Order: sequence, then structure tokens, then C-alpha cells
Amino acid sequence: MTGGVKKHYSGSGSLADRIAGALRAKGLEPSSLTPADFEAVDEFHFRGRAATLELASLMQLTAASKVLDIGAGLGGVARTLAETAGCHVTGIDLTPELCAAAAEISGWLGMSDQTEFVQGDATSLPFADGAFDAAITAHAAMNIPRKDRMYAEARRVLRPGGSFVAYDILQGEGGAMLYPAPWAAEPSISHLATPQEMRTLLQGAGFTLLKTIDSTHDSLRWLEQRTASGGTAEAVPVTAKLLFGTSYREMVQNQLRALRERRMLTCSFLCAA
Ligand SMILES: C[S@@+](CC[C@H](N)C(=O)[O-])C[C@H]1O[C@@H](n2cnc3c(N)ncnc32)[C@H](O)[C@@H]1O
Repeated sequence: MTGGVKKHYSGSGSLADRIAGALRAKGLEPSSLTPADFEAVDEFHFRGRAATLELASLMQLTAASKVLDIGAGLGGVARTLAETAGCHVTGIDLTPELCAAAAEISGWLGMSDQTEFVQGDATSLPFADGAFDAAITAHAAMNIPRKDRMYAEARRVLRPGGSFVAYDILQGEGGAMLYPAPWAAEPSISHLATPQEMRTLLQGAGFTLLKTIDSTHDSLRWLEQRTASGGTAEAVPVTAKLLFGTSYREMVQNQLRALRERRMLTCSFLCAA
């Protein structure tokens, strides 16, 4: 069931090599960049690093926190949390190529001690009960049909009282999502929950829901600004193009329309375990 998701996010050849090649073609040496410079590469969710920083401020992390990033992708969220809070972050992701590239990017940035990346499935986490102080997931659940298992696993690996933030793309009230989308070229690997379903799922997993933020309007403005500038403001706008080729343009147009018509929403849920 997860094979289609892995295939969707796997490029051909070493993704880290291709990212490094794209950076060098722009005159940028990967190891001389900072985590913030990588935003357009490794923060693969609406509003990028700004969204991660907002969510980090809700999580009350300290340098002693042990944090889990579920569906970590190329590791941008993990590195931003590790860099700003000084904590250790473990990222887990289904797609082996993304885990390997995430570890390599952490190496370029001198962050291998603060971050680690493990290949695995969010619905069956290879960690002990109560192993983490906090957990986050950004734009991963829309590929996961068994969200009940995903959130039960997140709850299990958190210590009592630990914080959990789920930042996801949801099904809106404006009609069906349009495909291709960046998380699914066609609907068979897309599983969007509604806001009410999310509340029921999180509470059903045993979380106390503390806060819900609907950032759909901000996501639309962010995407409009990025597309209006043609991407030239981005330091290193390479990953989406590397993974999805020219179909990325159609994905962006579909997202713009889906956000305007509230077919898709972006929402964050802050919970306590
Ligand atoms: C759109 S990317 C987001 C990556 C990252 N969270 C970020 O914001 O930059 C979605 C990620 O979810 C991962 N994913 C999908 N299904 C998963 C599962 N069942 N378990 C773990 N990761 C999964 C994909 O491999 C992909 O890396």
C-alpha cells in the first residue's frame, strides 16, 4: 500500500548528489550554506521555514528536548527545530532516498550530531513508549490512509504531557481536490481528512487538543507571492523540480485554485499527550 507513496517521492539517482549539483550550478557550495539557505529545498510544506518557526514556538522546546519529526522528508523541519532550540531531532520517513539525502544535507551543514534520519512507517514507529518529549508532523498525513494508527503511534512514543503538532493539508468544504498535487500525482495515494475528522482522530488517539490554526489564507498568499516572483527570490529552488519535473507547474496551478476555492486547507493542531 505504501509502495506508490515511496515511488512518488523517489527521484532517479542520488537525490543529494542532484541537489548538490543544482546548487553548484548556481555557484553555491552546499557546505558553505546555512539551514535557512536550504529552505526552498528541504522545507517541503506551505510557508516553509516561517511555518516551522511558528510551530516550534508552540512546542516549548528546550536544548534538552528529544523531538521526533514524522514524515521528515529532506529534514528541513528537523534541522530548523534542532538549530533554533538546540535540541536533538530524530526524523522518520517512509522513502529511503529522502532519508539518505536528509542525512547528507545534515552532514553538509555540520548538524549530524543534532539530527538523525530513520527509514520507517508513521503507522508503526520503531521507537519505545515515551521515548520523545515532543513530536511534529508536517504535510505527511495526506499520504496516510490509516491516520488513526499514525496518531496512536505518535501518542505512544511521547512522554505524558509531551507536545504534538500536526500541520497538514486537509479536505476543505469547497469541493474535491485537483490532481496532480505535490503529494499525489493522482487521487489513489491521497487521503485528506476534514478538520472535524482531524479533531476526532487526534482525540481518539488520546491527545488533548489545545489549539487549531487554519492558515489556508496565508498559504494562498505565500504561494501567490512565490509564483508571482517566478521563484527568483528563492535561494535554492530545486527539489520540487528535481522530484516532479515539469508536472510541478500543473501541481502549483491546481494548488492555487484549490486554496482559493477552499477545496484544500492548511491547518495545524497543537495537542498534549
Ligand atoms: C510533502 S513531504 C513533507 C516532508 C517534510 N515533512 C517537510 O515538511 O519538508 C511528505 C513526506 O511524507 C512521507 N511519508 C508519506 N507516507 C509516510 C508514512 N506512512 N510514514 C512515514 N513517512 C511518510 C513521504 O515520504 C514524504 O517525505
